[in-house]
Amino acid sequence: MKTRAAVLRESPGEWNIEELELDEPKGGEVLVEMVATGLCHSDAHVSSGDNPIGHLPAVGGHEGGGIVRKLGPDVTDFEVGDHVLTSFIPACGKCRWCASGMQNLCDNGALIMQGHQLDGTFRMHTTDGKDVATTGLCGTFSEWQVYDQLSLVKIDKDIPLEIACLVACGVQTGFGSATTAGNVQPGDVVIVAGVGGIGMNAVQGARESGAAHIIAVDPVADKQRWALDFGATESFASFVESAGRVAQLTNGQGADVVILSAGLVDNALIGEGLAAVRKAGTVVVTGVSSMTEDGTVPGLNASHLAMMQKTIRGALFGMKSPREAMPLLLEMYRAGKIKLDELVTKTYSLDQINDAYDDMEAGRNIRGVIRFA
Ligand SMILES: NC(=O)c1ccc[n+]([C@@H]2O[C@H](COP(=O)([O-])OP(=O)(O)OC[C@H]3O[C@@H](n4cnc5c(N)ncnc54)[C@H](O)[C@@H]3O)[C@@H](O)[C@H]2O)c1
Ligand SMILES: [Zn+2]
Ligand SMILES: [Zn+2]
Repeated sequence: MKTRAAVLRESPGEWNIEELELDEPKGGEVLVEMVATGLCHSDAHVSSGDNPIGHLPAVGGHEGGGIVRKLGPDVTDFEVGDHVLTSFIPACGKCRWCASGMQNLCDNGALIMQGHQLDGTFRMHTTDGKDVATTGLCGTFSEWQVYDQLSLVKIDKDIPLEIACLVACGVQTGFGSATTAGNVQPGDVVIVAGVGGIGMNAVQGARESGAAHIIAVDPVADKQRWALDFGATESFASFVESAGRVAQLTNGQGADVVILSAGLVDNALIGEGLAAVRKAGTVVVTGVSSMTEDGTVPGLNASHLAMMQKTIRGALFGMKSPREAMPLLLEMYRAGKIKLDELVTKTYSLDQINDAYDDMEAGRNIRGVIRFA
């Protein structure tokens, strides 16, 4: 069948709206009519070339929600009509990591930037027959898409997919960065550096964990202001500007937990985070770093590690298993414990995707969301 999708032809490059050929679902795969997709910064790292995908052209997007319209052979987990969210880690449930309750580290994660499906072949093709990759084994920037059933999580139908889709990356990643990776405790002082689509949910996670003080650090004034609505107690433009207040709150010791969810995290920012946590404190690195730089940016004082027993912890997908976390987060939304509607600053059509990413880069959005017609 044919579908319209946002295609990256070169990197760095822009998204082009093109008509593509989409194959029938193969064994274990389903055809999904997409309803909405969030616009995560990670796909901007693909288009900018900071985190290149292994095959071009490619369709981006991994924070999607849609409705199952057709089943391939041997599909056991879904029925036509199911509402589904995408999971950019297609957790197998059987590897060492899945079996240990860490589906976010499933061995299939090694494939997420290769561009092909789990069997090594492609479902999308240009009209002149070239294979088209998908990011995160998803490719949610398409009106229709074929997914392996491992890449989908079934959810209840009561929450509109244009809201629920945020849980498919930003909410799980940000919330888990505070609750699971940061292990925020009641009374903690927490700094969240970078309060966009991910960081705003780290603020929500810290709030739900009972943090006494949540300091949002972001150079964009609107983000600082919006963070207060999500539970931040104060906000500043930089670590430097927050340092006096954090010292005052902690008797000069430093924050209990720092979460780094800036758009791009370099060693200098990790160094600032490390300097801002107390002894035995934790710096959670959620924002991604450029894969094309050599990582020698100065600024990280490693003596903080051995001499002050500090921890730097990377966190993928909020260190949470998608099939467990997504339904629980939606239940928290139903119970009024986390905000989702307010995360969506603006909705766009598929054709407006480059405007939407311009708005993200300019700091105008918490999250932009594409609503398919
Ligand atoms: N680890 C994971 O599993 C995972 C999952 C999804 C996204 N990510 C990454 O998380 C990061 C954030 O994604 P997002 O969608 O929230 O992006 P976003 O653009 O919505 O938000 C980033 C925020 O960081 C702010 N910022 C920029 N430089 C800063 C600095 N030096 N200090 C403090 N704040 C700064 C920006 O103003 C913006 O508000 C990206 O790197 C993204 O690729 C990681
Ligand atoms: Zn994402
Ligand atoms: Zn696995």
